[in-house]
Amino acid sequence: NDNGLALTPPMGWMAWERFRCDVDCNDDPVNCISEKLFRDMADRLSEDGWKELGYEYVIIDDCWMNRTRDHEGKLQPDANRFPSGIAHLADYVHNRGLKLGIYADMGSFTCMGFPGTPLHRIPLDAKTFADWGVDYLKFDGCNSNALQQFLGYPWMSQALNSTGRPIVYSCSWPVYVGSLPPEVNYTLLGEICHLWRNYYDIQDSWDSVQFIFDWFFNNQDYIQPAAGPGRWNDPDMLIIGNFGLSLDQAILQNKAAIAINQDALGIQGRRLLKEKSQIEVYWRPLVDSASTVVFLSRRSDMPYKYHTSLSKLGYGNGTYQVFDVFSQSQLQPLSSTQPFTVSINPSGVVMWHLTPTNRKAVFHRLHRLHR
Ligand code: GLA
Repeated sequence: NDNGLALTPPMGWMAWERFRCDVDCNDDPVNCISEKLFRDMADRLSEDGWKELGYEYVIIDDCWMNRTRDHEGKLQPDANRFPSGIAHLADYVHNRGLKLGIYADMGSFTCMGFPGTPLHRIPLDAKTFADWGVDYLKFDGCNSNALQQFLGYPWMSQALNSTGRPIVYSCSWPVYVGSLPPEVNYTLLGEICHLWRNYYDIQDSWDSVQFIFDWFFNNQDYIQPAAGPGRWNDPDMLIIGNFGLSLDQAILQNKAAIAINQDALGIQGRRLLKEKSQIEVYWRPLVDSASTVVFLSRRSDMPYKYHTSLSKLGYGNGTYQVFDVFSQSQLQPLSSTQPFTVSINPSGVVMWHLTPTNRKAVFHRLHRLHR
């Protein structure tokens, strides 16, 4: 979507993966889906250093609604769990310099059975969200058919734009039509949505993370070219800090990793190599002829010593400054022909940021390589 929003991938916090549809505020007042949860998260984002790093959106997922629309046909929040209303919550979030996202579903019911947004409700619901001061909409696709989706997703895009309020539009459409062309038209998605959920829901396990990124890279020829400023593939939420994976704040608050994710070129990375040794190599070009390389190990035995050179990975002649993103250390400059060895932990990665010392010469080479 070219309306100037989401020029880099939107960053923030979304409730679903951790808090699901917990509506039991009597027995579980801390974790239930309620205005208190979203106020708490806004406090955390603004007070614990997340906002400064770019985490901006606090996003409500499913299960915020009352079971019925109001007398004017408008969606309304559950009055026990959101007694102050969504507009009030939006103020609270905005007062902390953050933005509020919300969830609706292009069908008769949401995935968890709350009121949906069938076609004829689209303009009203878009207006309601804009009136409340919502800044981001996740539009899910449960309980609708392919024709309704074909009409509804573009219509909601128009309806949001015509409210005049800048609202990032996240479409779950591709998940519901098989994720790949010809059923999915990624060019059209890029025109109407700022991001889209390509594939299945992420769960709190490494298996699930691997299942999703495998799909992304096995299908990179279809989806990698679809991404760019204002149009992003969405592999679903980051789940670090829940239960199934280790808590690793260093990654979520790692400035170099965030800068790579938020790079202004917006070119999605690709897998370059899949070795018999179960090492994989990924690559992405960045602004100013910089680039990033990721070495991933799918092994489960011990750290693996991978031998290669930058020229083997397609780099042009020259010398490169190398910054190790996770250890946050500057390594020795590396000439493209010089063999080197990286040690990659089992189911771990080594991520490098590279800058050519002679920028001009190398840039053209890299660019050609990528096309
Ligand atoms: C679907 C979506 C999830 C979440 C749930 C809510 O499964 O893909 O991300 O929004 O619905 O019910």
